[in-house]
Amino acid sequence: MEKLPKKLQSKIDQRKAENALRALTFKGELVDFSSNDYLGFARSEDISKRASYLIKEVTPINGATGSRLLTGNHKLYGQLEDFLTEHYGSESALVFNSGYDANIGFFSSVPQRGDVVLYDELAHASIRDGIQMGHAKSFKFSHNDIDHLKERILSLRAQSSNESEIYVVTESVFSMDGDSPNLESMAMLCREQNCFLVVDEAHATGIFGQGRDMVSQLGLQKEVFARLITFGKAIGCHGAAVLGSPSLKEYLINFSRSFIYTTALSPHSLATVLAAHQYLKEQGEPVIQTLQENIGFFKSEATRLQLSEKFIQSNSAIHCALVIGNSNVKYMAQQLQSHGFDVKPILSPTVKEGEERLRFCLHAFNSKEEISRVLSLLKNLM
Ligand SMILES: Cc1ncc(COP(=O)(O)O)c(C=O)c1O
Repeated sequence: MEKLPKKLQSKIDQRKAENALRALTFKGELVDFSSNDYLGFARSEDISKRASYLIKEVTPINGATGSRLLTGNHKLYGQLEDFLTEHYGSESALVFNSGYDANIGFFSSVPQRGDVVLYDELAHASIRDGIQMGHAKSFKFSHNDIDHLKERILSLRAQSSNESEIYVVTESVFSMDGDSPNLESMAMLCREQNCFLVVDEAHATGIFGQGRDMVSQLGLQKEVFARLITFGKAIGCHGAAVLGSPSLKEYLINFSRSFIYTTALSPHSLATVLAAHQYLKEQGEPVIQTLQENIGFFKSEATRLQLSEKFIQSNSAIHCALVIGNSNVKYMAQQLQSHGFDVKPILSPTVKEGEERLRFCLHAFNSKEEISRVLSLLKNLM
């Protein structure tokens, strides 16, 4: 049937009128300044060979055959979760099918009725969706603003019973800004105020802390209640894990619906995640070093070209230049693409109206020349 219900059609029409309609495109041959493959692992033949070897050796089957609680918990899960626990300096790790699944599974099941979740106003959709699916109250705090967070905690403590738990949620690298909170201050505040700190490390996984994450880099493993690491970005594959205590793991296995009611990951995905982590541990250092050099070079070129003020301050692989208005930002991205550079426009409503931006994702495999050229083009367009 071709006809779409009227209300749906009018939503699509409105998106078109706002120049904000989303559409799928195929990956072209342009220079990659947009994927999350920060370390180039998604294209690594070495990792692919290691993964094939692991599948043959450990689990030569194609599909998981069931959920993890039934028939899907093949041997590679055990190997991978042990590896992750050790590598990220955690007490345990529980693998989920994706970061989205992990966040909805965690936030819908862990905070209870009567508890409160305080989340950064720019927190990822998966965190917000998870909170909405649960029964706890939730409030935003201003982006990366520890003073505002403290105000919120103190006012909640003054009103609520001792039974209520407070969960504080942030990201170590924000996906649409590339910036980071002061995690040390946040951890200290949470310790003083007896709150549970949860850190989404999606865009820091594999990059910071010598191939670990930001919490590891700062030595905060013991201060954090739970960390989310994902494998679809720098790890170059798919899936995610919640890092935390063995009792948190046991709780999630029993109550997290996005963990329980879904077919487990295929052995191939797990083998790739494990192979990528082995590679990261043994040979990752120079690749991470090259990425860090590219980040430094991008920032120094932006300064040289007097573009720094356009960019949101970031030390991560994500750098965003504000270009206000969906039409403007789309036009600029098209111009960069027509010159061979895959830079994506981030439109409202994905970000607030008036905060539309060009999002540059940097990679270890980008050359200095590519970085200089794309920024020179941007300068001309600005
Ligand atoms: C901060 C953050 N958390 C979670 C996710 C979801 O991870 P996944 O892509 O593995 O579902 C993303 C993905 O874009 C993200 O940016």
